[in-house]
Amino acid sequence: MPITYDQIAPSYDRKIRPLERWFLDRLRREAFALLPATGRILELGAGTGLNFIHYRSDAHGVATEPNKAMIDIARVKERPGGVTLVQNCAEELPFARASFDAAIVTLVFCSVRSPAEAFEELRRVIRRGGTVVLLEHVRPDGVLGPVFDLLSAFTVPLSNDHFNRRTADAARTAGLQVIDVRKFGLGIINLISCRV
Ligand SMILES: C[S@@+](CC[C@H](N)C(=O)[O-])C[C@H]1O[C@@H](n2cnc3c(N)ncnc32)[C@H](O)[C@@H]1O
Repeated sequence: MPITYDQIAPSYDRKIRPLERWFLDRLRREAFALLPATGRILELGAGTGLNFIHYRSDAHGVATEPNKAMIDIARVKERPGGVTLVQNCAEELPFARASFDAAIVTLVFCSVRSPAEAFEELRRVIRRGGTVVLLEHVRPDGVLGPVFDLLSAFTVPLSNDHFNRRTADAARTAGLQVIDVRKFGLGIINLISCRV
């Protein structure tokens, strides 16, 4: 049985803290800087709400997260008054077509059940011309690629964490226009900007 987010939730913030200090907090800030200054924002897989401090104070929209243990931690964190929190998974969003101007997704596509369905939903709920920003760990190019294939063979059964997803390619295949892919840490972390 894989480790679940119910089990991960209580120690998530503590365990990720060294990475936040090292590079993640800075990359989250860069990801949020790519969002439009106004308009309705959708966040997928908000987890324990580590992104809340990066929203503009006047932001409005919805942060979604499927796991109850994760969202319960997020719920008690301070967030902009205009951002509501909804328990939901990325593959089936309870929102009307074109109801958001932009989406932000950080460290989520490695664990969604179906990246194709999640991207299809993003295309549906973000308005045409809107922005999708993803900060994800992915399968790196070159010799590291097969290493991450091997790693994934262990991390998927262990924790449902796919270390070899080609998330920018999946976004393209789903019909999003990939504007830019900035690669960090040997290409393992990608900051991907897309237009719907
Ligand atoms: C590594 S955590 C990242 C949490 C947060 N985005 C962050 O940057 O700290 C991955 C999150 O993706 C969520 N997740 C897993 N499957 C999902 C799905 N199908 N749809 C949306 N979120 C999902 C998990 O519940 C978890 O909160």
